[in-house]
This record gives sequence, structure tokens and C-alpha cells, in this order.
Amino acid sequence: MEGKRFSAAALTLGFCLFVVAARSAFGDVSYSFPEEMKRGSVIGNVAKDLGLDVNRLSARKARIDTEGNRKRYCDINVNTGELTVAERIDREALCEKKASCILTQELVLENPLELHKVLFIIGDVNDNSPRFETDLIDLEILESTAKGAVFLLDEAVDADIGQNSVQSYSLQTNQHFILNVKSNMDGGKYGELVLDKELDREQQQELTLTLTAVDGGTPPRSGTVVIHVTVLDANDNAPVFSQSVYKVSLPENSPLNTVVLTVSATDADEGVNGKVTYALGHVSKRVDELFSIDAHSGEVTVRSSIDFEEDTKIELKILAKDASGLKSYCKVIIEIIDVNDNAPVIVIKTLHSPVPENAAPGTEVGIINVQDRDSENNQKVHCSIQQSVPFKLVPSIKNYYSLVTTGELDRELVSDYNITITASDEGSPPLSSSKTLHLSVADVNDNPPVFEEQSYSAHVKENNKAGSSVCRVAARDPDWRQNGTVVYSLSPSDVSGAPVSSFVSINGDTGVLHAVRSFDYEQLKSFKVLVLARDNGSPPLSSNVSVSVWISDENDNSPQILYPSPEGHSFMTEMVPKAAQSGSLVSKVIAVDADSGQNAWLSYHMVKATEPGLFTIGEHSGEIRTQRDISESDHMKQNLVLSVRDNGQPSLSVTCTVYLLISDNLAELPELKDMSYEESSSKLTFYLIIALVSVSTFFLTFIIIVLAVRFCHRRKSRLLFDGAVAIPSAYLPPNYAEVEGAGTLRSSYNYDAYLTTGSRTSDFKFITSYSDRTLPADLTLKKTHASVEDLEGFDGAGHDSQVRCLLMNCVVIFSFSVKF
Ligand SMILES: *[C@@H]1O[C@H](CO)[C@@H](O)[C@H](O)[C@H]1NC(C)=O
Ligand SMILES: *[C@@H]1O[C@H](CO)[C@@H](O)[C@H](O)[C@H]1NC(C)=O
Ligand SMILES: *[C@@H]1O[C@H](CO)[C@@H](O)[C@H](O)[C@H]1NC(C)=O
Repeated sequence: MEGKRFSAAALTLGFCLFVVAARSAFGDVSYSFPEEMKRGSVIGNVAKDLGLDVNRLSARKARIDTEGNRKRYCDINVNTGELTVAERIDREALCEKKASCILTQELVLENPLELHKVLFIIGDVNDNSPRFETDLIDLEILESTAKGAVFLLDEAVDADIGQNSVQSYSLQTNQHFILNVKSNMDGGKYGELVLDKELDREQQQELTLTLTAVDGGTPPRSGTVVIHVTVLDANDNAPVFSQSVYKVSLPENSPLNTVVLTVSATDADEGVNGKVTYALGHVSKRVDELFSIDAHSGEVTVRSSIDFEEDTKIELKILAKDASGLKSYCKVIIEIIDVNDNAPVIVIKTLHSPVPENAAPGTEVGIINVQDRDSENNQKVHCSIQQSVPFKLVPSIKNYYSLVTTGELDRELVSDYNITITASDEGSPPLSSSKTLHLSVADVNDNPPVFEEQSYSAHVKENNKAGSSVCRVAARDPDWRQNGTVVYSLSPSDVSGAPVSSFVSINGDTGVLHAVRSFDYEQLKSFKVLVLARDNGSPPLSSNVSVSVWISDENDNSPQILYPSPEGHSFMTEMVPKAAQSGSLVSKVIAVDADSGQNAWLSYHMVKATEPGLFTIGEHSGEIRTQRDISESDHMKQNLVLSVRDNGQPSLSVTCTVYLLISDNLAELPELKDMSYEESSSKLTFYLIIALVSVSTFFLTFIIIVLAVRFCHRRKSRLLFDGAVAIPSAYLPPNYAEVEGAGTLRSSYNYDAYLTTGSRTSDFKFITSYSDRTLPADLTLKKTHASVEDLEGFDGAGHDSQVRCLLMNCVVIFSFSVKF
């Protein structure tokens, strides 16, 4: 720097030297001359100046010597004694920035040797332009630099000194900078760039300015440098989205990673300041789960399945950010497009199950609601029933359908329905769903019990045990439970004047008919019972069937001999004329059998005879005939023991004795006593009267008691039952009940009379009613009858009516007791 300093004094001195060549008093001489004189230019006449003889110069070998290796800048013309420039003299090279530049040369003369110093005072010539150290000044200035900022510029250097050195700078005019020139301590001048107006990299990234340095020479010389200003980016720009609002549509259920859209934001800054990254800004957690954004590309992608039914429109805020955190936002509106992804849902709102089977067609049995979460056509739903069932769907308000019956229901045919309802929407492809609802049909008691057969007939052997089963009826009722539960009962009716319940009872559950009593074929050959079958519905339905009960005969009756009177009371004696010839009819045994058929097929046999071989009896006719002529030797009294046998299995028989008197004259019967029954008869009458009186008294007493009891118990005691339970009256002695019910004892005893065949006489007239005599000896009446029978043999209606009266009393009493 020292070289650059110019001393004002030195400059002034140099200038004077240039003009005046000074003479040295000591044999030295000095010349002032400017640098850069042409070779050969005359500096001065040294010989003259030194007072030397020009002519002797050559002889004295005058010459310029240099010390050592130094350059010889001048020559001497030995002819003229002039010093000429031998070498280019550059002050700057010799003295640099020294204020005075003195070049010393030596003039040597020989013979005698003389040494003179020749001083050259070299003056400065403006031969150097100001020069910058570099051609280019690179400045990097942050665009954010404030106005007034100062940037030091390199100083321009001018090798010249003094006025010839740099005196001023000038700057190419521009918008941003001005130049400030300053001097430094050693007088040098330098420039400063002052920012006059802020830079904006985004407008102008760089500036090129030319700085010119001018020196003070005449003419002035100048040097330039190019200042290259690079405007450095400051992050002064936020990213800017290409659109402030983006609108896109997206089908729901788009697969993951589907690109929804790409947002883009640009940042005018450069480098990291212009590097934009994207993020979702301020979204709910749920939306955040739905989308993701690529931080660098701005690609918004689907992150999880999007359901139109949840969001039809999603708004996203997207944030763009540069490196130093300047942000901006944009809005993305994503319209979700519905896809038919929801099958209709069938909801059964109400179902009236079970439906009574008598529901009229058109009855509403249920309400169905169909929902589809999709929209538009995807939401339009059609509902139908494909099966052939007597139901249909009637569209009602909005998505409601009523399920109504279209026809009659019959539980007995179809008791339940599985109705499949199918709903399909109008999407493409359509979705459908179906639902099966179970509808049961409730029973209504609409079927009466139906008997398996039109009518029943049963065959029972007489003398059956009371309680034995007769037959079984069965009726079916297809209704449900109690509506189809059949209960059997007997229709109350009379059989021969007696209630049918005294003959048979029926098990209400099983339909088995039981005999209540032992039947007697001889009294009753058949009867009809009406069996009712009733279900338990309410109201109940019933039907009836008739059961014919046929009683079959058993051989339970012995033959009865009507003639002659049996059991040894016969006092009838047949007269046999002595003159009776062989084969003549003597008598005839007349017997009957209450049974029928084979059981009443009688045969007559001779068991014992006083005179065997005299009489025979017709096996079938019962006619007693002589087998041979009667002889005198034959005993007058002949007794025949006869048996009458029926053809039953086993057969029953009775015996009787026939007294025959072989005589022509009745007076010849001394041994025949006329037995008197007067006494016993009157005795019997007496007993009967006593019995009648006592029975009547008892009866009256009983009536009184009964009335009293009845007064107390107003309610009838329920002894009679309907239906299945066996009727208590059934356990009464059958004959009593019979008598009470009918009072026609006689009429019930009609037999077929099996008359003996081949009878030649019409002596015997048979009335068809043999009731009193042939009443079967059975149960309690047996004894009474026996006594009646006894009585009848002797006396007529008197006793008979007494006995009847007595009987009636008993019966009345008994029936009263039954009734109460
Ligand atoms: C209805 O469905 C049920 C159960 O799925 C089944 O047990 C029944 O038999 C079905 N009824 C008819 C009438 O198909
Ligand atoms: C029987 O039928 C009646 C109507 O007649 C009905 O109310 C009742 O529920 C039916 N009973 C059953 C067990 O189905
Ligand atoms: C028996 O059934 C017939 C028709 O089936 C009916 O007319 C009659 O009244 C019924 N008899 C009784 C006693 O219920």
C-alpha cells in the first residue's frame, strides 16, 4: 500500500525535475525526464553539463557503466556527449509507488579515470490505467437485505502516482444501487455499493453493473470491473396452490391407494425455500383415516374404504409448506358417488302369527319395511313373494308393505307357511336380499268329529259280564288340540223304556262301549245306541253314529215243561183206556225253551217207566204213545219219568213225571187224594196282608224322611253323569230298574214258542205270553216269582195282585231312593 500513497511534495518535486536538469556541483549530474521516452531520445548533454571535452570523449572511452548486473538504461554518444535512452524506463517498474524515482547511472572516463554519477530523476507519466484486481466482482446479496446496506468494493489500483492515480469511480446507473466513494488513509479512493432499493430475487435474480475507476491523468485513463450481483433467495414467498378449491368426485368403496387428485402448489422461492411439502390440514380423525397425501407429490389417495352412506361429501384442507414453514391452504371437496353396495334390508315390523284359519281373504297379517341405504335408483326397492302361497305384499306408504292373505286358509291342509320375501333394488347390478318369515295358522274349530264308519254293529253274547266291552267306535277330528279332541258320549234315549245308560256306557276317551249289565237274549235281542262324538272346542262340534248291539243267544234256559206240571206237583193224571192199542196217543209232554235256535230245540226222552216198553215218547214230538197193547197184567198206575233236553252246548234238561192210570173209569182212583190247599192259602193271604201293611208304613216313613232331607238339600245330588262315566244306575239290579222304567213286565217277555211238532190234537192252546211262568229265575226277583208261581197254581188273580202291589211298593221305594 505504501506504493499507492502519493506524497504531494514528491509529486511537486518530480514535476520540477522533469522540467529542469539540475547540475551537480560535485561532478555529478542529474537529469529529470519522464518515463517511457523512446530509445535514442536525448536525455541531455552530459559532456557539456560536466564540462568535458567532447572530442576526447571517444579517446577517453567514455562509457556508462552499471553496477553489477544492473541494466544500462542510457548510452552516451561519444561524438556529441549526449545521453540517449538505451532502455525503456518504466517508472512504475523501477520505483513503484515511490514519490521520487531516481535512477543512478555511472559515467566512466579513462585516461584519467573519472567516475561521474548520472542521476536520472524519472517523472511519472500517466501510462497506467486504473486496474481492478479482478475482472469480475461477484456479490451475493440476500434479497431480503434492507435498504442502505453497504457492500465494500475492491479498490482499483493505478500504478501511476499522484494525479495519475485513481481519482474517481463511477457506477453504471441502475435501479438498486448507488455508489459511495470513500478515501482511505493513504489517500486511495475506494467505492461502496449502497443498496438504494430492495432486491427481489423473484423479479430479478442477478444484476450486472459496471464500475469504472478514473484517474486524474490527462487524458484520464479508466479501468472497469463488472460487478455481478447475485440476488440470494430469501424465503419470502409462501407456496401458492394452483386452485384454491379443488372439486373431485370419487365412487365410494374405491380401492385403497386410488388417486383422488393431485394438488400442486408452487413456491416462488428457490431451493429449499421453494420446496413445497403437502399435508392434510386440520381434519377430523376420521377423515384423516380416509385419505392420505403424498408429502412431495401432492397426490391424495384413498387410505381406507369410503362409505357413501356415511359421507356424501368430504371436505379436506390441504396444507402446503416450504422448508422454513411458510404455509398456505387449499380446500378439496370430494363428492362421493354412490355405488350400489347396500342390499335392501327387510325388516318385519309386525307379524300377526298365528293367523286364525278363518281369517277373511285380505286380512293384514304383517307389516314389512324395506330399507336400502344407497341413494337414488340404488335405493328404489321392489318387494315380492315368489312362492305360491296365499299371501301377497301390498305396497303401502313409503317403504312399507302389508302382508295380506289372498285366499282362505285351512290349518288342516297347511298349518304353517314359510314366506320368503325378496327385495331387490334398481341398481346395476341390482342387489337383493330375502327374508323368510314363519307364519303359522291358528286352529279354529271348524271340523266336527267324523266317525270312521257310517254305523257300527256289535254282537254280544248274553250273560256277559257287566263291564265287558261291546265294541269300539272311533271318530277323528283334524282340528288342533282340544278343538280336535274327541269325547264320546251316549245320546240319551230309551231302550225298551229304560234309559240306554242302564245298558251300555261308553269310555269318553277311548270310545269303547261297555256293557253295564249282563244282557239277556230272552229279554232283549238287540238295541240301538246313538253315540255322540264331540270335540272340546268352544263352541263344540259334534256328530253321531248309531251302534246296533246284537245280543246272541246262549243256552241259559232249561226247557220248561208246561204239561204236565213239573216238580211233582202234578196231580194231573192221564187216563189210559185199557183198550188202548199199540201206538195210540196217551198223552203229550209240552215243553218250551226260552232260548232260541238250537238252544231251544227240544228232545224228549224216557228216563224211567214203571213198565218199561209199554210207553214210548216221541223224541221230537213229546207224544207218549203205547208201544204195545195194554194187557191186563199191566199195573194200573204207570209212572213215567221223562226228561226234556234242549240242543244247546251243553244241553240243559228237566225231568217230569207223568202219571198214567190205566183205567176206563175215573172212580177207580181210590188213591188220588183231593188235597186241600184252603188252609195254607188263607195263611199265606194273612202273611201277605201283614207284609203289605208293613211295607206301606215303611214307604210312608221313607217319603217323609226323604221330603225332609230334600227340603234341607235343595240341590239335587248329582248321581247321574253324562258321557264317559258309568252311570250309577247301571249298577242297580237290572230288573228293578226295568220295572220302574217300563211297568210293562209282560211285554218284554215274548218268546218264540217252540211247539212240539206233529201234534195231532188241538187240545193245547198256547198263548204267546208265558211271561209270569217262564220268567227266568234270576237275581232278587227269583224268590218272589217262585212264590208267585207257587200261588198261581192254586189261586187266581187275588194273590197275584197282592204280590204285584207289594212289588210295586218296593220298586217305588227303590226308585225314590235312586232319584234322591
Ligand atoms: C319352515 O321352516 C322351518 C325351519 O326352517 C321348518 O322346520 C319347517 O318345516 C318349514 N315349514 C314349511 C311349511 O316349509
Ligand atoms: C280352537 O278353536 C277356537 C275357535 O273356534 C280358537 O279360539 C282356539 O284357539 C282353538 N284352540 C286351539 C288349541 O287351537
Ligand atoms: C245326529 O246327527 C244328525 C245329522 O248328522 C242330526 O240331524 C241329529 O240331530 C243328530 N242327533 C243327535 C241326537 O245329536
